[in-house]
Amino acid sequence: MANKEIYLDNSATTKPTKNVVRAMLKCLEDDYGNPSSLHAMGLAAEKILKNSRETVARALNCSAQEIVFTSGGTEANNLAIMGVASLNKNKNSRLVTSTIEHPSVLNVFNGLEQMGAKVCYLPVDQRGVVDLHSLKEVIDKDTSLVSIMYVNNEIGTIQPIEEIGRIIKQISPNTLFHVDGIQAFGKLDIDLKNMPYVDLFSISAHKIHGPKGVGALYIKKGTKLSGMMMGGGQEFDLRPGTENMPGIAGFAQAIVDMALLKEKHPNKLYMLKERLTKGILDTIDDCRLNGPSVKEGAPHIVNISFNDIRGEVLVHALEKYGVFVSTGAACSSRRARISHVLRAIGLIDSFAIGAIRFSFSLFNEMEEIDYTINIVKQIVEQLRKFIRR
Ligand SMILES: Cc1ncc(COP(=O)(O)O)c(C=O)c1O
Repeated sequence: MANKEIYLDNSATTKPTKNVVRAMLKCLEDDYGNPSSLHAMGLAAEKILKNSRETVARALNCSAQEIVFTSGGTEANNLAIMGVASLNKNKNSRLVTSTIEHPSVLNVFNGLEQMGAKVCYLPVDQRGVVDLHSLKEVIDKDTSLVSIMYVNNEIGTIQPIEEIGRIIKQISPNTLFHVDGIQAFGKLDIDLKNMPYVDLFSISAHKIHGPKGVGALYIKKGTKLSGMMMGGGQEFDLRPGTENMPGIAGFAQAIVDMALLKEKHPNKLYMLKERLTKGILDTIDDCRLNGPSVKEGAPHIVNISFNDIRGEVLVHALEKYGVFVSTGAACSSRRARISHVLRAIGLIDSFAIGAIRFSFSLFNEMEEIDYTINIVKQIVEQLRKFIRR
């Protein structure tokens, strides 16, 4: 097994499926026309674009006209927040988010704050769930936007999006609600027709076995926001620039592939997560599950701390045995600092620095989980012997 690659870092990114690579290659080799061109090659590309948009829309249960392709989840989040904020620059306007958002949301709000905007960061409880009392207190008619993630990328907390949406719209019907749905898409059932309180919803292809560098923003019909770039008018003038056709075709193919696989294995992710969590917590001393319980959290993410052991030491030790995991968010895990999410849920430092995120995909197998439990146990015991000598 050690020669095999056991990839348990699927929240950072996923391996594109073979069909995705084929769809992308076809766009590069054969259907390389510009969808804006008038000739037959342009029309062929336009058809791929149209079909891909419809595939994304079907997956979210919305209309194709409500989907804008972007260069990924980060851009979708930026477009949603900046796009609304730039139309609401008046003195009283307020923006609301939570303390555990992804940097592609938090840093946009930080930037807006530096430019004079009023931003409120909602606290979360020990499971990472947004405090609804604080939400009720801060929303008023001057709140232009609330942005809350659906699933947290480090600890897997699922926010009560429906309840949050209802609270917002009951107090202030004109306040827009943006949801970073990047870790939820493909894992939870999402039906935007039945979520009328959600105005904006971000998704990304590379978290669902699609390519990197492509994502989409759902913009509910009638929602007003301004684009961040100026150019040739593509994507309803909200995201100009010649479309990333191989990426978009790969994104649509990933949606099709993953829907089929999920139908075949509806509970597999939860089973993998349950087995790994139980295996580790039952056999290794002095470790703890961070964030929500196994059942409450998202099916594909589990975050466990090992007291006395640094997360990055464990990541590198595991890699020698072919097991790939993460210390937390991929983009912050190279920096030696404690995760803002683990801080926000109140984890003490000695546990926070020993946190590891395991994240699963439908391509993982139970044997990989059993192998991982054993290797983690061996490594943790060796490291502790060494530290406590
Ligand atoms: C919750 C969340 N939001 C946003 C992003 C950014 O998406 P992308 O990598 O497509 O820019 C990520 C990726 O790690 C994420 O997990």
